[in-house]
Amino acid sequence: MKIYSAPLQGFTEAVWRNVHSAVFGGIDGYFTPFLRYEHGEIRSKDIRDIERKNNSVENLVPQIIAATPDEMHPLMELIANEGYTCADINMGCSFALQVRKKHGAGLLPHPDMVAVLMEETRRWSGFTFSVKMRLGWESKDEWRVLLPILNDTPLSHITMHPRLGIEQYKKAADIDAFNEFFAACKHPVIYNGDISSLADIQRIETLFPELCGVMIGRGLLANPALGIEYSRGCELTTEEMCRLVRTMHDEMLRQLTPRLQGNTQFLTKMKPYWEYLLPTLPKRLRKPILKATTTEKYQSAVANALNGDW
Ligand SMILES: Cc1cc2nc3c(=O)[nH]c(=O)nc-3n(C[C@H](O)[C@H](O)[C@H](O)COP(=O)(O)O)c2cc1C
Repeated sequence: MKIYSAPLQGFTEAVWRNVHSAVFGGIDGYFTPFLRYEHGEIRSKDIRDIERKNNSVENLVPQIIAATPDEMHPLMELIANEGYTCADINMGCSFALQVRKKHGAGLLPHPDMVAVLMEETRRWSGFTFSVKMRLGWESKDEWRVLLPILNDTPLSHITMHPRLGIEQYKKAADIDAFNEFFAACKHPVIYNGDISSLADIQRIETLFPELCGVMIGRGLLANPALGIEYSRGCELTTEEMCRLVRTMHDEMLRQLTPRLQGNTQFLTKMKPYWEYLLPTLPKRLRKPILKATTTEKYQSAVANALNGDW
């Protein structure tokens, strides 16, 4: 089974992906956070994130979010100009700002619009498309109407995160509904949702041995070693984990520091990783990181946390 890194806006950007793949590895493909076309343009930050010169990861799949062919077109042109030949279409995002525009999971109750987008993919010959979706926006049967359209489109795979858009991340992922979707889908399927340990990966593999892979988001932020743990078949020791996290963190800082001006930008970028990273880290070590008010205090708190003495 393949292991994929899920797109997470604000987290799994080029620096994280490049450094993660160099330090930890064990990932068969990385998906970029979604590219959007808004107010007649694509944000320069998003363009930089997919530019080849900023990416050293081999299997990188740019993700787009769009409701119509007109919105899709400039995003596809950008991706094509950068030399990519694959794109992932986001039909799962539940952020209100996107859903209001019928983007992401906001598309799921509109099979007519999905059909138009899928038809549009055929115009991009030489491109391989995939879809990342939820079961529905507010009903877990919405996928049933969409699946004939998706089955008729030559997709490389579908990633299913078996929740509703309105649930965001609250309820447990619906394994029974996933099972039904998996049985009816003609494309290779990737499972996504709530995988946070090696045992979780193995449980999904046992339940669905025919699965083409699992995609991991927050679990990989928490334990960046999940890919290698899966290939080795055992977990890393706390000592080895701390050593590798330290290497990854130092390298991310080295690459990010010149771009982040002042304490505020630096801390705003780095602290959120610690909302997820190393969930077993004792509170007494995590708290000083999250409370740090200067770069120096942050770095000393991180050094303390990563000495492996816990
Ligand atoms: C902060 C955050 C940002 C996300 N950004 C994206 C995104 O850009 N594209 C996307 O398809 N999904 C996005 N997602 C959803 C994740 O890719 C994933 O489907 C979800 O977190 C469930 O998987 P997990 O339990 O492994 O994290 C985001 C989720 C979070 C929490």
